Amino acid sequence: MTTAKVTTVMLLNGPNLGQLGEREPDVYGTTTLDEIVSMCQAVARDVGVELEAHQSDSESELIGWVQRAAKNSCPIIINPGAFTHYSIALRDALTQVDAVVVEVHLSQPASRESFRAESVVAPVVRGTISGFGPLSYVLAVRAIGELLTQ
Ligand code: DQA
Repeated sequence: MTTAKVTTVMLLNGPNLGQLGEREPDVYGTTTLDEIVSMCQAVARDVGVELEAHQSDSESELIGWVQRAAKNSCPIIINPGAFTHYSIALRDALTQVDAVVVEVHLSQPASRESFRAESVVAPVVRGTISGFGPLSYVLAVRAIGELLTQ
């Protein structure tokens, strides 16, 4: 009997997102990153994917995970934090991923300071979900679940 291979989805969080819960609660709310990951794990189980979650303040570490996802054709959900707005290196790494990439943000960056209006990664991802707080992540897991059934 052959068993179907379960898709692993990488959930990547960039700089300062490990501080969620305490960081600017008026902007990002009080939910911690661990709580967001747990919510995503529950939805992942529901849609039949495995979730591998990582957070780093380091661009190089994030790029390493993106490269690994690219090699293994893993879909990615990524909140690049401030790297969203200037990391061409992260964008170049994401360009190598054939699987679905979803960019997520808790806040709606376009409605904030002007330097947040541009996402340098947006042109190379499949879609962006922003402005819904932790729900942005949950919707991203659901979107990937849907896309995998198509
Ligand atoms: C963020 C928005 C970015 O502009 C900011 O630098 C972050 C968080 C968000 O989730 O709303 O670190 O990505």
